[in-house]
Amino acid sequence: MTGGLYAVSDLHVSYAENRAVVDGLRPQTADDWLIVAGDVGEVFADIERTLRLLRDRFARVVWAPGNHELWTHPNDPVTLRGVARYDALVAMCRELGVLTPEDDYPVWRGAGGPVTVAPLFLLYDYSFRAPGTTTKEESLRAAYDAGVVCTDEMLLHPDPYPDRESWCAARLAATGRRLEATDPALPTVLVTHWPLVRQPTDVLWFPEFAQWCGTDRTADWHVRHRAAVAVYGHLHIPRTTHYDGVRFEEVSLGYPREWRRRGGAPAPMKRILG
Ligand SMILES: [Fe+2]
Ligand SMILES: [Fe+2]
Repeated sequence: MTGGLYAVSDLHVSYAENRAVVDGLRPQTADDWLIVAGDVGEVFADIERTLRLLRDRFARVVWAPGNHELWTHPNDPVTLRGVARYDALVAMCRELGVLTPEDDYPVWRGAGGPVTVAPLFLLYDYSFRAPGTTTKEESLRAAYDAGVVCTDEMLLHPDPYPDRESWCAARLAATGRRLEATDPALPTVLVTHWPLVRQPTDVLWFPEFAQWCGTDRTADWHVRHRAAVAVYGHLHIPRTTHYDGVRFEEVSLGYPREWRRRGGAPAPMKRILG
């Protein structure tokens, strides 16, 4: 049996039930890689403990941040905000040997390869507007009116950027340049917490939540950057879809109340190549 490229997201280890699920995440072979597409948790030490545990088990762990890692949570003794917190998370991952969006993109050469595996940190810019609205202000107001406001508004600080959409714009520019520089002969596995395209948010129960889920500016990245597979999470709606012939995999575990509703013990680790 040869190694596989696996992915998971939204482990949300602040929940004891989810920590038990993580305890059960084991590779099938000594060559398996695991992609962790954000929302491990919100407390720095919990994120570190979880990534260390996974690194001890898998041949390679590739992480991209979710919004929860970027929160400055009142329960976290680490009080860094915005870019400083992201930089600290990257430094922690490097200490552990976990790959981040700031490292050279690794090439998966196992079954289904070779492919460039690119973990990306892009954030969102409120361009997935609420229905019937045309500006960020209108879209946010619609969310507040509906009582559907992402906690990011309180806890995900953009410092030193003036706002999250400015941080997003900077990430898009820098990341686009890095992707343009990847080997054009290889397809890619693009790994983001927020979906690259808007369509997956069409099934959200509260459409006002979409504005915290991505940016229109990556709508063609899966084609432009030769994605064999696009991996994402954040929506807590695990499923496989195709856009422009590219396979998109939402690989979230989600909250215990969500995976219990889906029935049975969750097996969140999804084999995406190999
Ligand atoms: Fe999540
Ligand atoms: Fe999320």
